[in-house]
Amino acid sequence: MLNNAAEFIKNRIGNFKPEIGIILGSGLGELADEYCKLAIPYSEIPGFETSSVSGHKSRLVFAEINQKNVVMMQGRFHFYEGYSAQKVVFPVKVMKKLGVETLIVTNAAGGVNPDFKPADLMVITDHINLMGTNPLIGANDNDTGVRFPDMSEVYTKEYVKLVQKIGDKLGISLQKGVYIAFTGPSYETPAEVRMARVLGADAVGMSTVPEAITARWAGMKVIGISCICNSAAGISDAGLSHNEVIKAAGEAKEKFKKLVKEIIKEL
Ligand code: HPA
Repeated sequence: MLNNAAEFIKNRIGNFKPEIGIILGSGLGELADEYCKLAIPYSEIPGFETSSVSGHKSRLVFAEINQKNVVMMQGRFHFYEGYSAQKVVFPVKVMKKLGVETLIVTNAAGGVNPDFKPADLMVITDHINLMGTNPLIGANDNDTGVRFPDMSEVYTKEYVKLVQKIGDKLGISLQKGVYIAFTGPSYETPAEVRMARVLGADAVGMSTVPEAITARWAGMKVIGISCICNSAAGISDAGLSHNEVIKAAGEAKEKFKKLVKEIIKEL
């Protein structure tokens, strides 16, 4: 199935060779609209599912940004949609087959760190997997990665520094911290958010961890960026809604795009 998907895409893109992959999170899909050279709806690709969450389109977008060939997922698959963790990471494996060496994973997240404000961007330094599953469960493809992959540096340290440097240069203040993933789709309770903080998390979300684990396993460099869309439950008095998340992502999207474009340039 993986080879079918890769062959299908290669036939469509011809001699275009993506070197950078980007997964665009909720409300952050505009970068793909802006640069789209060729788009393939997920529904046409063997083995792909279709993302059903509002704020997500469902297509793979190929583009040249700052002289680099990029493939973007405009919309991702979530575990909470009922897809297995293995299905969720299928596109990452396909990207690897297409030659992608660096993956930029983005998401909308709740701020667990009380210093974070809505529309802040956070560079992910590490993650905590509380999804209760792992995308690498099952037979291991030894040609791509080892059975027990090292996760001591999922998010390439050198690139964390690079992203911070770029933030400074562009005058975009960036937070830095640990992302914790729950399955969702319900938001966390205040007690769960307090637990997340005790465990060392700065932001909480429902994605990214499966894709990052898979990319690291496959030997890719990984950069993670969270758009902090709300204070996580109990951090402020307000309740949470998906509309609020999309609204904050909208507020952050210009600086997000600026940052990602510059990261692509510097990679
Ligand atoms: N929790 C989990 N996922 C999220 C949140 C949150 O508060 N905000 C945006 N995605």
